[in-house]
Amino acid sequence: EEGLHPAHYPWSHSGWFDSFDHASIRRGYQVYREVCAACHSLDRIAWRNLVGVSHTVDEVKAMAEEVEYEDGPSDQGEMFQRPGKLSDYMPPPYPNEEAARASNQGALPPDLSLIVKARHGGADYIFSLLTGYRDPPAGFEIREGMNYNPYFPGNAISMARVLFDGLVEYDDGTPATTSQMAKDVVTFLHWAAEPEHDERKKAGLKAVILFSTLTAISLYIKRFKWSVVK
Ligand code: HEM
Repeated sequence: EEGLHPAHYPWSHSGWFDSFDHASIRRGYQVYREVCAACHSLDRIAWRNLVGVSHTVDEVKAMAEEVEYEDGPSDQGEMFQRPGKLSDYMPPPYPNEEAARASNQGALPPDLSLIVKARHGGADYIFSLLTGYRDPPAGFEIREGMNYNPYFPGNAISMARVLFDGLVEYDDGTPATTSQMAKDVVTFLHWAAEPEHDERKKAGLKAVILFSTLTAISLYIKRFKWSVVK
């Protein structure tokens, strides 16, 4: 059974000339870190990717240093722990798939790096999923440990509702309602899946301007050159 079709939301970055809302990416990172990162990895994003996007280089260095990474072998052939640096990737919550499943009643929380691209409905779907938990309709049988969500295919998902009003405290003072956090984390995940988005649109705009100018010039030259032919 398919999930309920999500509504189409007016994301501020969906227009041809619109960049991501970087304040929202920053808040969304905070939601990922404080909520989702307990279960979901974000393998394709390194600390350095956040620099100039959501945080300053000093902020990112400090955030990376709070995480311990295993490195080595050293000259003595031993593995050792060291604080994170800009080139390290986001730390995964579990060492391997078995550990991930063991902590989630057999279900596997997918890596979120490309999830906005991977799921049908993209950003609209994930926003709807995060905000769409409710009581099952009368007669809907739900297994112990599963949760009703009309947007999830099959409508029974092993991830429980995770976002509740006031769960995080944003440093820019934005009220952390459930839908605000969902919007922000989805914007963050959309950026993660498409970090070249802003550059792509900028380059696209430049290309359109350039090629229309060239077309205009060549039309002008053509009419000029052929003007003697009746
Ligand atoms: C699945 C997002 C927090 C456990 C998923 C999926 C998404 C997602 C997009 C895939 C749904 C699909 O397959 O269509 C998020 C976000 C979170 C978050 C954005 C934070 C705001 C958590 C937390 C846990 C968790 C904290 C663990 C306590 C799971 C599990 C699945 C899942 C087990 C697999 C569900 C299934 O296949 O039945 N999550 N999640 N998630 N998530 Fe999360």
